[in-house]
Amino acid sequence: MSQTSPQHAPNAAIVSTEHTPACRVALVGFGTVGRAVAKILCDRADGLLRLTHICNRNFERKKQPWVPADVVWTDDFHTILNSDVDIVIELIGGLTPAEDLVRGALQAGKSVVTANKQLIARHGPDLLSLAAANDCRLEFGASVAGGVPVLPALRTGLNGDRLHAIAGILNGTCNYILSRIETARIPFSEALEEAQALGYAEADASEDLDGGDARAKLAILALAGLQARVSPTDIRARSIRTVDAVDFDYAAELGCTIRQISRAELKDSTLYADVGPSLVPEASPFGRVQRNLNLVLTSGEYGGDMAFLGAGAGGDPTAVAVVSDLLFVAEGLSAGRRAPRSLRLTSPNVSCDFETPWYLRLVVKDQPGIIAGLATILSAHRLNIDAVLQKPGFEKSALPFVITLEPCRDTQLQPALHEMSALPFALRPCLSLPILR
Ligand SMILES: NC(=O)c1ccc[n+]([C@@H]2O[C@H](COP(=O)([O-])OP(=O)(O)OC[C@H]3O[C@@H](n4cnc5c(N)ncnc54)[C@H](OP(=O)(O)O)[C@@H]3O)[C@@H](O)[C@H]2O)c1
Repeated sequence: MSQTSPQHAPNAAIVSTEHTPACRVALVGFGTVGRAVAKILCDRADGLLRLTHICNRNFERKKQPWVPADVVWTDDFHTILNSDVDIVIELIGGLTPAEDLVRGALQAGKSVVTANKQLIARHGPDLLSLAAANDCRLEFGASVAGGVPVLPALRTGLNGDRLHAIAGILNGTCNYILSRIETARIPFSEALEEAQALGYAEADASEDLDGGDARAKLAILALAGLQARVSPTDIRARSIRTVDAVDFDYAAELGCTIRQISRAELKDSTLYADVGPSLVPEASPFGRVQRNLNLVLTSGEYGGDMAFLGAGAGGDPTAVAVVSDLLFVAEGLSAGRRAPRSLRLTSPNVSCDFETPWYLRLVVKDQPGIIAGLATILSAHRLNIDAVLQKPGFEKSALPFVITLEPCRDTQLQPALHEMSALPFALRPCLSLPILR
C-alpha cells in the first residue's frame, strides 16, 4: 500500500490511524452509485479508506461541496492509472471504456472494485486471472442484487459448502411489473408505464424485460457460486412481455403467482440454466417477493438452502456493497493479502432442458374440437395433461384457457408448442411457463 505523500494532504473526512496508512481510493464514474459511494467515503472516518481522486467526463458539473478540497477531480483515466492509488472503483458501467480501464488498473497493480455486471458476466474469469497475475484483487459484490450481500456470502460464508443450485429474482424492474399486475390486475403495458414513471424502468427496458440483465447476473452467480464459466448469451432468456393479468388469474387457481426466475443447476458436466417468467407457489419465498426487491436462494450439499433478500438496486444500497468490497480489499492489503483466492473454474455445457410441470396458455377462437386437437398433439409427443382450466366471462372470439402438463423436459415440449400455435383456432403463439415447486 502506498504511503500518504506530502502532495496529498490528509483528507478532512477520513483520518488515517497512526500505524496504518489509509488505502488510497480513486472513484471513476460519479453517477447514481458513484456519488453515493463518495458520500459514504467522505462521511466515514475509519482511517482505512481515503478518497483521493474522482474521474468523470465533464466533471465540473459534478462537483459537490461535501467532497474535501484535496480530492483531485479529473476526466482523464490516465491520471488515475499513473497515480499512487491502491484501489480503483469502476462505476461508469457498460463495456467500453470500462473494460480498458479495469484491465489498465489491474495491469498497473491496482486492485479494482466494480458494480459492472456486463463486464464481469462477459470477462469475469479473464479479469480475475489478470488480477491474480498482477498480485491484486478484483471484487464485484454489487454487480448482482445491488445491496444484497449474496456475492460476498458466496466468497466467504458459503465457501465451505459445495453449492449445486442457485435461483433468484434478480431484476427489480421485472419484479415490480409482475407484482403490480398480480396485485392490481392491470395490463402489462400499464404496469410498465407505471414502472417507467417511478424510475424503476428505463425508457427502453428491453434488457430488463427480455431477460438480458438477469442472465448476466445469473452468469456471475454461476461463476462465483458454482465455479462455472458460462457466457450470458448461452443462457436462454424468455421475455415477460407475453405475461398478462389473465395469467395471474389462472396461476391463482393453481395456488401460484408469476415471477421472473433465474435459475442455474449444476449436474455432472452440465449447467442447466434459464431466465424467464415462471409459476411459483404464492406462499413460497419467491411468491412473496413484492415490488423491486431481489431474492437469491442457494442450495448446498452440506448447508442446505440459504436465502438472501433485499434492495437489488438504488444508489445507497448499491454503494454499501461497493464500500464493503473496498473495506474487504483494504483490510487484505493492510494485512499483506493481495492476490485473490484462485477460482478453479469448469466450463460446463449449458442447457435449458429442465424437467418441470408446465403451464400452457392459449388464446383461441372458440369452436368445437379444440381440446381434441390439442390433446392429439400432446399425446403424439408423449406429454401428459394434468388439468384444463377455463374461466368464464371471456369473449368467445378470443378465449384464453390453460392446460397444465405433468413434468416433462423442455426439448420434449417445444415441438408440440410449435404445432399447437399453428392450429387454425390459435390466435396467438402458445405461452408456456415452467411451474416451479
Ligand atoms: N444504479 C443502480 O441501482 C445499480 C445497481 C447495481 C449495479 N449498478 C451498476 O453500477 C454501475 C454504475 O451505475 P449508475 O446507476 O451509477 O450509472 P450512472 O448513473 O449512469 O453513472 C455513470 C457515471 O459514469 C459517467 N461516465 C460514463 N461514461 C464515462 C466515460 N467514458 N468517462 C467518464 N465518465 C463516464 C457518467 O457521466 P455522465 O453524467 O456524463 O453520464 C455518470 O456520471 C453500472 O455498472 C451499473 O450496472 C447500478
